[in-house]
Amino acid sequence: MNENPGYYGENGAPPHTGALLSHSTRYAALLFSFSFTRTTLMTLSDQALDQIFREARTHNGWQNKPIDDAVLRQLTELVLLGPTSANSSPGRFVFVKTPEGKEKLRPALSAGNLEKTMAAPVTVIVGMDMAFYEHLPKLFPHADARIWFVGNDRLIADTAFRNSTLQGGYLILAARALGLDTGPMSGFDAAKVDAAFFAGTSVKANFLINLGYGDPSKLFPRSPRFSFDEAARIV
Ligand SMILES: Cc1cc2nc3c(=O)[nH]c(=O)nc-3n(C[C@H](O)[C@H](O)[C@H](O)COP(=O)(O)O)c2cc1C
Repeated sequence: MNENPGYYGENGAPPHTGALLSHSTRYAALLFSFSFTRTTLMTLSDQALDQIFREARTHNGWQNKPIDDAVLRQLTELVLLGPTSANSSPGRFVFVKTPEGKEKLRPALSAGNLEKTMAAPVTVIVGMDMAFYEHLPKLFPHADARIWFVGNDRLIADTAFRNSTLQGGYLILAARALGLDTGPMSGFDAAKVDAAFFAGTSVKANFLINLGYGDPSKLFPRSPRFSFDEAARIV
């Protein structure tokens, strides 16, 4: 589905050409200035790729080691730089860190996720703001993107879910880049989380991520992955 037909345009021409031209001119100038200040992107080291992908695991047990609020702020700032459609940024993040917060979460957790979530230093509720489009005048200022969504509930739901899920994925990888371990979970009662944490707001729970320093002794064996040929093709 084309999320923003006005942006791409029927004949490939974007709307509000004047505004976009000045935007692209500014963008070109910015790129030009960057070409003097930014070195060519390079493949990360094997050590970095191991930490983020090859050796990173989904954790079920946690060391008794807290995470500083400053690290949670740094993590969130990295996540918010990841791309979302029309820069819509529907993800909202509640870092449940206190015993009171964990008790509010407890009734919503599935049995298999209960113990490890209560033990994790932090549990992130990845939420999605169903009124994300009201912020588009700030986040996507060069086009009137808000009107693409107003009254289109299907597009709103698809965009909120797709992009907040992506932002949750960015959070997992950013956490690993900062030396943290994660344990994402969809085994919970979203209606209970919404009532406990998002009552009276336009935010709904998408999924949960335990965050901390993992206990390797509680890992399950790594499950197999598809090969390139099983999951991908180049056409
Ligand atoms: C969106 C999502 C939801 C998940 N839900 C649960 C869950 O509710 N409970 C659980 O124990 N594991 C859950 N997992 C963990 C996956 O089973 C795990 O990430 C996968 O088997 C890969 O494990 P590995 O990263 O250690 O290789 C979830 C993972 C993701 C990404």
